This record gives sequence, structure tokens and C-alpha cells, in this order.
Amino acid sequence: MEKKTFYITTPIYYPSASLHIGHAYSTVATDAIARYHRQRGDETFFLTGSDEHGQKIERKAKAAGITPQQYVDEIVAGFKDLWKLLDISYDKFIRTTDDYHVKAVQKMFKKLYDQGDIYKSKYTGFYCTPCESFWLDRQVQEAGGVCPDCGGKVELVEEESYFFRLSKYADRLIQYIQDNPTFIQPVSRTNEMLQNFLLPGLEDLCVSRTSFKWGIPVDFDDKHVVYVWLDALSNYITALGWGSEDDSLYRKFWPADVHIVGKEIVRFHTIIWPIMLMALGEPLPKQVFGHGWLVLDGGKMSKSKGNVVDPVKLCERYGVDAIRYFLLREVPFGSDGTFSNEALIARINTDLANDLGNLLSRTVAMIDKYFGGSLPAPAAVADEDAALIQLASELPAKVDAQMDELHIPDALAEIWKLVNACNKYIDVTAPWTLAKNEAGQERLKTVLYNLAESLRIIGILLTPFLTSTPQKLFEQLGLNGAQTAYESLSWGGSVAGAVVHKGEALFPRIDAEAELAYFAAEAEKAKAAAEPAPAEAAKAEEPEEETITEIEYDDFAKVDLRLAKVVAAEEIKKSKKLLKLTVEVGDETRTVVSGIKKWYAPEDLVGKTVVLVANLKPVTLCGVESRGMILAASDAEDERLSVVTTLSQMESGLKVR
Ligand code: ME8
Repeated sequence: MEKKTFYITTPIYYPSASLHIGHAYSTVATDAIARYHRQRGDETFFLTGSDEHGQKIERKAKAAGITPQQYVDEIVAGFKDLWKLLDISYDKFIRTTDDYHVKAVQKMFKKLYDQGDIYKSKYTGFYCTPCESFWLDRQVQEAGGVCPDCGGKVELVEEESYFFRLSKYADRLIQYIQDNPTFIQPVSRTNEMLQNFLLPGLEDLCVSRTSFKWGIPVDFDDKHVVYVWLDALSNYITALGWGSEDDSLYRKFWPADVHIVGKEIVRFHTIIWPIMLMALGEPLPKQVFGHGWLVLDGGKMSKSKGNVVDPVKLCERYGVDAIRYFLLREVPFGSDGTFSNEALIARINTDLANDLGNLLSRTVAMIDKYFGGSLPAPAAVADEDAALIQLASELPAKVDAQMDELHIPDALAEIWKLVNACNKYIDVTAPWTLAKNEAGQERLKTVLYNLAESLRIIGILLTPFLTSTPQKLFEQLGLNGAQTAYESLSWGGSVAGAVVHKGEALFPRIDAEAELAYFAAEAEKAKAAAEPAPAEAAKAEEPEEETITEIEYDDFAKVDLRLAKVVAAEEIKKSKKLLKLTVEVGDETRTVVSGIKKWYAPEDLVGKTVVLVANLKPVTLCGVESRGMILAASDAEDERLSVVTTLSQMESGLKVR
């Protein structure tokens, strides 16, 4: 029987700066899905790469005094190092500067031009350099004169351009999306695309620029370079040889089973890309999955904002599998989620060190102690064994059901149900008590066999997600290659007599307090390093004319101001600035962290009624979650500061308006 093929891709990332944990998130998730399919025998092709053209890169290279090619070469080398570190098992890395890609894009452009789907006209509109996006006047007006995506400055541009007739294919695409409800995932994004973009009507897309040079030249009109999205999206087929002499990979793997992308580029992948393919007469990808953003303190990590977390440092500190696990487990795939050091450490300590790591070390230690390191054969099955065996036997199908929907964290959660059931099974069966007398010997053998066998199944099922842990686990259990293969998943694959080896802890426990103090110190250092140089500082001191923007009452009404009574206050030792306040707001008690240590001792505040911004998103400061902010007035130099309070005694919880 012919093998099933599976083609999966990540976005191709811009080499405008090093990658951060958000990019690692997409790529690790894609890697886990690819490994999952390989493990199940599908002939899998996993593509990643870099999207190297555009004005932003041209400008950055110029600022660095090097050619754009030199600039991207250096950064792309860093991408590859990162993927190696994270054990990313891609089959191909495409660079949009690769020769075959350039040629295929030129061919595509010419074909679309010859058949009348690309035409020449004039472009006037706005361009946002950091986002590499063009915006129509209407879109910029609606966003208040700024880039609708990032809120940054946009430049007005007018130039001769080629346009792609998106409008011609809009109805066909709407029909396709309606007929194929699994095309855009998660399903909520389908409505977003239809309501926000497709149904209001599509404008033709500008697909060439003359204002910069760093792009693929339009070969029949070399004043123009191909504008990035046409160049970028086509990577998914040029990587397979589309438009080249050898398109065997294309014929084998296209259409893609799934494009994994971040939610902000779902629009390009579900509108421009399918229309490009329709115009080319090629099949559409089966699915585009838009995952959510990993955010830091409420904002998306972004290279242009500078608030990024370096995955290399995290891997060096905690190990690759710990980071992979966190990325795959923490956030429902499709939703936004927060990256925090606290959450990372909690996952490592709880799921990995305690639940899984201890289970393995206890099991191996007991086989070692009670049976001289040789796995005993199981004897008769009792009720509690039957329940465990049933759970383990049903687990592969449960993992498959979750992975079919790309619910990666839920697949891991299913595996952890067995991990936790094993830990409970140890508590219930109490092997150390069984070991005390002869009568318990047979039972003890069964219990230890069942634990080792459950761990074997756990190890096999974890193989797509973690890349070195399963191997370590198999070694400690003394398993051979055949026993660790996917085909041997069914219960009973461990063989009595296997020799276990006590090994190092899979995941050493982290001293959370010390670790968070370390991060706080690192953050302080980074802040100090980012302090302005004396000349800039002097400039910053020049008084600036303050402009106050008027707002509507409705804007003001969004802020929920409440009276709050401070019932307790203490210093946050690690911080020079912060106090931790416990406030009562009506019936509710909350913790609020406030940067007022310089002006107040904790006891000055207890009993005072203050004004709280009650509907601010919670933030974690120095490891303490702060829910709200108290108002204070201060002078420009921050020498004097006074917390805002009421003239007469009023009860807490009242609205301030
Ligand atoms: O958009 N959380 O490249 P890019 C989760 N070149 N994922 C994140 C993330 C975050 N905070 N930050 C980035 C481009 N990503 C284009 C793509 S594809 C034909 C062209 C991930 O370097 C996420 O997958 O800006 C997002 O879509 C992608 O990186 C953007 O990478």
C-alpha cells in the first residue's frame, strides 16, 4: 500500500533580527506535528525557511554598512543554529534568496501577467515599514492615522505598480471557504476572514515596488521588484520544485496538509495565497491553522518592540525538552497565552520533575532495590491494575483524537493523565509495604511491571514532543529498539528480565525563588544597560511641551475607578521600588503592587482609602501578581509623590467618576 503523505510548513521568518520565543513556539509546534506523523508512518515533508526581501532589511543592512545579502546570511545562520538547538526536524529550509525560488517567482509573475491577472497601474497609499504592509487610505483613517496592525507611523507613497486581481476570484474563494469548513482553523478565524475581509469586498493587491531594490526583479520590467507577499507565500510550492525542471516533490506532496501560522498572517494565507493558487490553476492547501500569540505582560512579543525572550538562553538554562514541553503544553493551540518565568518554572517543577521524573526514578529505584535491577514478570491482575492497564491501552487513541484536531496541549494532557494515574497507583499499592513480607512478593512484581510498562507507553507517545527525554527514559528502563517503536504500543511490550539502569533525574527540580531572583537581577541589568547615554539623557531632560489629547466620555468610562481600603502593606524585598498592598474593594480583597516604596513606608498606608484602577489587566511584578493600580500625583522629577485619597471617609468599592 502506498504511504500517506503529509506536508506541513511554518511561516518563513523575516531575518530582520534574531528570532525569539514566539517564533520558536510556531516552529516547535510544527515540529511536534511533523514528528507525530512520521512516527505513525506517514511520508512527511516539513518545510521552514526565511523571508529575506523587503525594504526593512534593505534599510537595516544599509545602517549596518553591509549588503542586504550579507545581512540576511548572518541572521539566517542564527535561525539554523536555533532550529538545531531546538531539535527541529525540518526536511527543507527555503531562503527566498535561493536561486530556484527567484526563478520560479519570476515565472509565476510572468504567467499571471500574461493571463491578465496581474496588470500595471498606479499605487497611492500608505506603507508601514516594520510590518512590511501597504494600507489603503480608508484603513489608515479608521486606525486613526497609524498602521492598523502595529499602531506605528505610516508613510504616504505613490508609485507605478503591478496589481494582482484578487477581486476577480473573491466569490470563488468565499464559496470555497463556505464549502470547506476545516480550511481555516481554529474555526473562529473563518468568520473573522469572511466578515472582516472577504464579504466587504477585496481590493486588488499591489504586488510590485519601485521604491526599493532588495527584492526579486520582475524580469520583463526590471524597475520593479516583486512585493513581498507574492514572493513569500509562493515559497510553499517553489520549495517543492514548482516551476522548475524537477517538480517531483511538488507532485508528491502538494497540496499541503497544513500551513501553521500566527494569527496575524492568517489573512494572507487564506485570502492572497488561495487566490494565487486559483489563478495558477493549482490545488489549494487543505488547511491553514492560525495559532495565537505568546504575549509578555499583555503585549505581543515583537522584534520591533524589543520585548523579546531569547530561546537560546532558556534552552541553555533549562534544557531543550523543558522548553519544548512548556511551549507545547502551556497554551491551548489557537489561543493567546502568556509567557512568564513563573509559569515556565512551575511547569518544569510540577509536570516534568515531580510527575514524570519522579515516577521514573521511583520505579527504577524500586525494581533495583527489590528485584536486583531486573524487571519482574507480572502475576495476577487486580482491580486497580485493570484500571491502569485500561487507561494505558486507551491512551494512543485519545492522543490521536487530540492530534487530529491539532490540540497539542490536550494530547500532552492525556499523556499526563497516565503519568498521574501511575503516581496514584504507587500510593494505593504501596510497594514498600508489599516488599516487607513474602506474601506481598507476587503483588509487588505485578505493580512494578505495570509501572514500567506504563512508562514505556508514555515514552513512546512522548517521542514526537520531547526529543531526548524518551531515549533517556527507555535507557533507564532497559528497553531495546523494538520495544520502543510505535508499532509496539500495545500493552505488554516490556519483557521480564530487562535490566534497568538508575540514571540521572530526567528534570532536576528548580529552586523557584532563587531562579526568580536571578531573573529579576538580569532584568535590572538589562534595564541599566538600556539607560540613555549622558547626551541623550540631557536631551530627555529638556522640558517638552505637553500635548493633551481630548477624549470622549465613553473613553473615560472604560476606566473602572474604585475606592479601595489598604488593609495590609509590605515591602517586596527584591525590589527597590515596589510595595505589595492588600486592598479591600467592597467584598473583594486584592493584591496590588505599587511603585511607591521611595515615598511611603508600608505602615503609612494601612487603613487609608485610595483610588484604584480596578479593571487593568493583571501583571506580575517581581513574582507578585498585581490586580489594579493605585493613583498618585507626582512632580516631573518624581521627588514628591502623594497617593490620591478621599476628603471624607467613604466605604471601599464605591465608583469614582
Ligand atoms: O510574518 N507568539 O515573518 P515574522 C507566537 N515573513 N508566534 C509568534 C510570535 C509570538 N509572540 N511572534 C512571532 C512573517 N511569531 C512573514 C511570514 S509566511 C509566507 C511569511 C511567529 O518573522 C508566528 O508564527 O514576522 C508569526 O506568524 C510569525 O512568527 C511571524 O514571523
